[in-house]
Amino acid sequence: MRVLVVHESLWGNTRKVAEAVARALEPIATVDVVDTDSAPDVVEGYDLLIVGGPTHAFSMSRKSTREGARQQDADVHVPARGIREWLDDLTPVTVPIPSAAFDTRVNSPRLPGSAAKAARHELRSRGFDVAIKPVSFRVHGYQGPLVDGELERAAAWARGLVSGLAVPAL
Ligand SMILES: Cc1cc2nc3c(=O)[nH]c(=O)nc-3n(C[C@H](O)[C@H](O)[C@H](O)COP(=O)(O)O)c2cc1C
Repeated sequence: MRVLVVHESLWGNTRKVAEAVARALEPIATVDVVDTDSAPDVVEGYDLLIVGGPTHAFSMSRKSTREGARQQDADVHVPARGIREWLDDLTPVTVPIPSAAFDTRVNSPRLPGSAAKAARHELRSRGFDVAIKPVSFRVHGYQGPLVDGELERAAAWARGLVSGLAVPAL
């Protein structure tokens, strides 16, 4: 089983979740973990696509929200393209590939809107199987760190979604 995990992360919180997801799957799958700047635009050949990004302004980040983050913190990692732009570039699939979306969001206050839900909508429009529900992992403030236990929850989520797929394990 081949899994591609694509992530966008300004302060590293979403990347840590993506890496926890990958680590959890490595005993049972061949896993590639890449950021949106180096992610392929064609994902045929993978059995599962997992996409994760930070929630910005109730949805996926935009160039303007990423620049807003840079104004708050000059050291932040601002990718050339986030998951929104990567999904724009992604070649639609002809045979539905299972996909799963996750995001990171502030723990308090609990705001409406989710990058993962928006990403799932885009994945559906590109022919992916979006039966897996999107999930959010929580951070303290805009910069993190992740709330205690979120990496463990991410690992359990990843194992659970793979066990539900009708694809032979590695
Ligand atoms: C410009 C901007 C807008 C944001 N808007 C939201 C929001 O609408 N809801 C939310 O829960 N978090 C919001 N956040 C917090 C991000 O979700 C948080 O920075 C992110 O989860 C951190 O992950 P990262 O380190 O991978 O970038 C926003 C952050 C920035 C910089």
